[in-house]
Amino acid sequence: MARLAVVGVGRIGGEVAYLTTSLGIVDELVLYDSAPDLLRAQVLDLEHTGLQIPISTDASEIRDADICIFSAGLARNPSIKTRADLLEANLSATKDGISLLKGFSGILVTVTNPMDANNFLLCTKTGITRERCIGFGGQLDSARFGLALRNRGITGFPFVLGEHGEHQVPIFSSLSSPVNNDLREEILAELRGASMEVIKGKGGTVFGPAIHLAHLSRIILKDARELIACSAVLEGEYGLSGCSLGVPARVGFNGIQKIEEWDLDDWEWAKMNDAGRFVKDLCTRAVS
Ligand code: NAI
Repeated sequence: MARLAVVGVGRIGGEVAYLTTSLGIVDELVLYDSAPDLLRAQVLDLEHTGLQIPISTDASEIRDADICIFSAGLARNPSIKTRADLLEANLSATKDGISLLKGFSGILVTVTNPMDANNFLLCTKTGITRERCIGFGGQLDSARFGLALRNRGITGFPFVLGEHGEHQVPIFSSLSSPVNNDLREEILAELRGASMEVIKGKGGTVFGPAIHLAHLSRIILKDARELIACSAVLEGEYGLSGCSLGVPARVGFNGIQKIEEWDLDDWEWAKMNDAGRFVKDLCTRAVS
């Protein structure tokens, strides 16, 4: 039996609960939200699918879940330009998460933005080991990168490291053909604006994050040891510590099994260092 807990069952949390159960990835849910009417509505809507799975709304059962997806808090709207701008607004939701996760022995997946700083805060303050704190966003950014490459006829495996935000670092050096710096900057600008285009059009991103979160849940529960881009609390990798940042990592049932350290080129190193500086400052502010 695989039990998934979701804290914050709004757009993302609700869709992940629906997808993971309807795709047969999990067979038990623990759902929690500070808005009781929404929580009840999400439970009823899931029950009306006809899927016969136990759904608990008892927050004390979060601790026994295999995975906890933390997606509680405010999302961006067109007047909130960057994910980092959500730091102060989402501190109280993230701090509520610290008590909800007391005694939790599974894998934490942080979604709430600014995701890197919130993953660092939750990891630092709950005492959950860094291997079991996975920040989600890199898979989605990498999929957007893949689309930008396909639209230009560029082939290769798309990977985005760095911040889940303005300081994201698409990796060009591992693609099948060289990409010059002008085109890199053009693609990076497109990636930075990708989610805001969705937010402006439909209020928030849903399908993209939810399907990649479902895929991540499957990787963890099947112990697939797949290499993905995710945010991890760093202890010297890429010359960084005191922050959580997007890196290539192999993930399985015990969480992050190995962080790979890739040979980046000069353009990528410069961007990665900027990302490190920026996110470290956010992380310091989050925990202080
Ligand atoms: P939403 O507003 O639809 O849902 C958020 C839910 O959190 C609401 O139901 C709200 O009642 C609940 N909530 C707020 N404070 C809470 C607390 N203290 N305890 C429990 N529940 C609480 O927002 P949406 O679109 O689902 O986004 C959620 C978060 O995920 C946002 O911060 C957003 O920026 C982030 N996000 C991250 C992505 C990523 O790739 N890492 C992708 C998309 C969104």
